[in-house]
Amino acid sequence: MGMTFVFLMDPIASIDIDGDSTFVLMLAAQDRGHRVLYAHPRQLELRAGDPWVVGARPITLRRKQGDFFELGSAADVRLSETDAVFMRKDPPFDIEFLMYTYILDRVDRARTVLVNDPQALRDYNEKLAALFWPQLMPPTLITADRAQARAFIASHGKAVIKPLNGAGGAGVMLMTPEDRNLGSALDILTNEGRQLIEVQGFVAAVDAGDKRVILLDGEPVGAVNRVPTGGDIRANMHVGGRAERAELSDRDREIAAALKPELVRRGLIFVGIDVIGGFLTEVNVTSPTGLQEVDRFDGVSLENQIVERVEEKRVALG
Ligand SMILES: Nc1ncnc2c1ncn2[C@@H]1O[C@H](COP(=O)(O)OP(=O)(O)O)[C@@H](O)[C@H]1O
Ligand SMILES: [Mg+2]
Repeated sequence: MGMTFVFLMDPIASIDIDGDSTFVLMLAAQDRGHRVLYAHPRQLELRAGDPWVVGARPITLRRKQGDFFELGSAADVRLSETDAVFMRKDPPFDIEFLMYTYILDRVDRARTVLVNDPQALRDYNEKLAALFWPQLMPPTLITADRAQARAFIASHGKAVIKPLNGAGGAGVMLMTPEDRNLGSALDILTNEGRQLIEVQGFVAAVDAGDKRVILLDGEPVGAVNRVPTGGDIRANMHVGGRAERAELSDRDREIAAALKPELVRRGLIFVGIDVIGGFLTEVNVTSPTGLQEVDRFDGVSLENQIVERVEEKRVALG
């Protein structure tokens, strides 16, 4: 079939090929016969309103530690002449990332498949987006007001406070109303009342794990559980969380079904949602991960399914 797929991402040399989802997506694209182009999103250009990537490199990949990629010669590409663009830059979602989405917004959606749609990337902060479906979530308040946060924690007994643009569990803390560090924690997280944070009812079932469910066009295609270790409430791998096999439960399917129409409408093709004790906590759209973990536990190739779906979408564009 031989399509051209562009991957915009962080520097390839520093990825972990045994965990990185972008690596296996590129590998799947290559194995299915496509031309794979690699660039950092800062190589984006808007030439008289038309988005290009300057100096994109054709890349060849293999699963071999220390020798897993080879780059061809650099060339400028007009994105609306390619078949798909995968925006796979890792968070944080900062001003630079925001600018990249404005440029990607100008790609001709009638010719090129965007994974994920750049407008939705902007609109979906991973924590705030879950609040499109508050009925599926633990009780949650977004506020910069420390008194409001305190009142919420007092009324729930135990609550978790989190920065809104964090990742990997950084800054996530379990608080009780009587905790003598509560005032200080709220001062730090809200930057003395200047910054919005998330305050969320504590879900005790977190001890059984924080489940990542992978959605392809809103359909759940696999899951992996992450279990906190060492007494921490945080299940993130960064802080010692342990990955384990997970089945898709009826509740996961119910949550996915509720999200699906909106995700499909917004062009959110590849999404990772997080579910704690049956409650939705995050909708990750920027550069979701977890493919390799699910592949290993379930003996599947989610990346192959994703790339195949993108091919179908490209073909459907004509
Ligand atoms: N409401 C909650 N109840 C219990 N544990 C929570 C809750 N929210 C988060 N956690 C724990 O903290 C971890 C990190 O929180 P999360 O919301 O996923 O933020 P991050 O974006 O940093 O991953 C979760 O994986 C989970 O283990
Ligand atoms: Mg998380």
